[in-house]
Amino acid sequence: MISLVAAMTKERVIGIGNRLPWHMGSESKHYEDIVRGKTIIMGRRVYMATKRNGRLIGLHNIVLTRSGMYAKGVDVCHSLDEAISKGFEYGPDIYIIGGEGVFKDAISKADTMQLSFIKSDYPGDRFFPEFSESEWEEKSREDFPEFEYVVYVRKVARD
Ligand SMILES: NC(=O)c1ccc[n+]([C@@H]2O[C@H](COP(=O)([O-])OP(=O)(O)OC[C@H]3O[C@@H](n4cnc5c(N)ncnc54)[C@H](OP(=O)(O)O)[C@@H]3O)[C@@H](O)[C@H]2O)c1
Repeated sequence: MISLVAAMTKERVIGIGNRLPWHMGSESKHYEDIVRGKTIIMGRRVYMATKRNGRLIGLHNIVLTRSGMYAKGVDVCHSLDEAISKGFEYGPDIYIIGGEGVFKDAISKADTMQLSFIKSDYPGDRFFPEFSESEWEEKSREDFPEFEYVVYVRKVARD
């Protein structure tokens, strides 16, 4: 099962200046509870930022880059398909945590999306891709003071 995990505003903002636009302990904790100890795939910038913060959170951390980057303690892959194949070597569940281009490439491959919709507005320079709600079934929705957490499951195509 491939899951996308993201937090965004109503305008689909996910980042600004290579960081999150908000400081929201409650959402960070919620996010960490989802991905901690899992197999996660991330873009190179997300990796650099999480490493800087000392919070490489997956059990298996797979980093996407088109460069020859080497990094200790993570798997470096050069395409999303390669990263997904590597992820499935570790087990049946993969969590894809961004950023922008990674979400855009991965959304067509995802089985579920675990999305936090931040209630306040923030400016941004990175966005979650647009998606059609008709292709996704809302499986659950939970209300928190600062965000709503919605789990979507891809609808099986009907003939
Ligand atoms: N709110 C959220 O849920 C959320 C989640 C994640 C990130 N963010 C925000 O998003 C921003 C960072 O994301 P970003 O979009 O700038 O960068 P990113 O996705 O973390 O990293 C982009 C880099 O990843 C590599 N890459 C991406 N797709 C690839 C592919 N298909 N094959 C091979 N390599 C690939 C490339 O690395 P090279 O340049 O090394 O080739 C590319 O330059 C920050 O503002 C962060 O806070 C928010």
